[in-house]
Amino acid sequence: MAKKVLVSGGAGYIGSHVTVELIAAGYDVVVADNMSNCDISGFEGVKKITGREDIPFYEIDCCDFASVDKLFTEHKIDAVIHFAAFKAVGESVSEPIKYYYNNLVSFLNILEVAKKHGGCNVLFSSSATVYGESKVLPVTEQTPRMPAMSPYGNTKTMCEDILRDVVYATSTQDAVIKGIALRYFNPIGAHPSALIGELPRGVPNNLVPYITQTAIGKRECLSIFGNDYPTEDGTCLRDFIDVTDLAKAHVAAVARMFGGKMKKGYEIFNVGTGRPVSVYELVTKFEKVSGVKLNYKFVPRREGDVMALWADPTFANEELGWKAERTVEETLASAWAWEKYLAEKNK
Ligand code: WQD
Repeated sequence: MAKKVLVSGGAGYIGSHVTVELIAAGYDVVVADNMSNCDISGFEGVKKITGREDIPFYEIDCCDFASVDKLFTEHKIDAVIHFAAFKAVGESVSEPIKYYYNNLVSFLNILEVAKKHGGCNVLFSSSATVYGESKVLPVTEQTPRMPAMSPYGNTKTMCEDILRDVVYATSTQDAVIKGIALRYFNPIGAHPSALIGELPRGVPNNLVPYITQTAIGKRECLSIFGNDYPTEDGTCLRDFIDVTDLAKAHVAAVARMFGGKMKKGYEIFNVGTGRPVSVYELVTKFEKVSGVKLNYKFVPRREGDVMALWADPTFANEELGWKAERTVEETLASAWAWEKYLAEKNK
């Protein structure tokens, strides 16, 4: 029988892409989402891509223990991939209680319920934000984490530690929990079908949705935050990872858990390309693949930005047998196709 994977936050940007790849790999998937930061179109897109109308969907808030408990009673869950969290860095600074409450309580509930139902594998969606402004580049999983720059970042660090401690404690108990934290670098792009992608609410905070919305005419001008960094072209360096490549890393991590290949009860993997690309380079590459001349200007640095961050993905490459495959150009083309699809749909 196929293993069953719960994807919490499965209607969102990364969760929807992961759901698609899990189904393609033959897993049974249950999706839970409270729809607080997405609409049903993401889940509809997943159904279209996979041709599966029967994916169980729970509109629940993982902060509600009883709802999570009910889901685990109705399905025998073999692994959870936990995405359900708030993710706006700026908002987390002005509303820390909201962020700490939601991101921590939902994860604690997942862990407690998993334990109550006999234990399972837990994959946590962490972030490269835990490395902060690293002195050593590229960062490996052993590079020390730095104090987070925001309550959002703090919740990622805290959830990693919670998972580590729960794995340690349950290793000698009846209900065992095994854990993997995947540290994502900068996920960008959309599914090649252009049926699912990122749906930012309001003005985007992240670079690529801002670029595509400017190109389509929804935003007037892209502000490039800082061109006086000590980098080659003066703009920040990031490790932009295609969302489908990222999704495939989850499938590899889940297979590792099910296959009994983990070397420790709790493991961490960087999920990045290993290739730094500057903000300005990304803008010029976008212009090339889209054929659109982008309206942009240089403005002062954005508070809280690190100058450069990119992954050493060797550990994931070797241990998960996973590697980022798409070029930045391919990924930017997918982001542009998605933006055009949205414009067409909303006409
Ligand atoms: C990338 C680069 C900006 C917008 C954040 C979170 C991280 C993760 C991913 C999310 C930076 C520059 C951006 C714009 C710009 N989590 N930029 N103009 O900050 O690397 O990472 O998103 O859920 O935890 O911190 O990503 O896309 O915001 O910025 O010049 O309008 O683009 O200064 O150098 P970031 P980003």
